[in-house]
Amino acid sequence: MTRLALSVNGVERAVDVPAGTTLLDVLRDELGLVGAKRGCGEGHCGACCVLVEGRSTRSCVTRIEEVAARPIVTVEGLATGDLLSALQEAFIAEGAMQCGYCTPGLLIAATALLARAPDPTDDEIRATLDGNLCRCGVYGRVVRAVRRAAGGAR
Ligand code: FES
Repeated sequence: MTRLALSVNGVERAVDVPAGTTLLDVLRDELGLVGAKRGCGEGHCGACCVLVEGRSTRSCVTRIEEVAARPIVTVEGLATGDLLSALQEAFIAEGAMQCGYCTPGLLIAATALLARAPDPTDDEIRATLDGNLCRCGVYGRVVRAVRRAAGGAR
């Protein structure tokens, strides 16, 4: 077992896990943060994305040792208390979800995008979210939601 100190959603946490445990397994199984989803489990679908130092990161292929002492934000950490982020509000306003399985990963990827590019073009939005798969096909609504969160329709 390896004991590691983590910073998750602004809270210091300590975990004892076998070396090589994935960040996704630690979040879901050790910390009870089940917003990040296991889809492919191989780094392809984006359902498991969380922010690590502000960058969208596929937690299913990230070993926990790689992120110790680096700030991690999960979808549970995007809201401030009961106050949703502007992006979360925009997803609701645009109906940018259907079954919801991919939604946490999309929110994380789009949050990272808006942090580095506050007014992205539709092409930038599509390119950034290209690796976040949605089997329900809500891509158009997701692009509108990101645009809305960035400041409104063009
Ligand atoms: Fe991690 Fe698919 S579950 S990328």
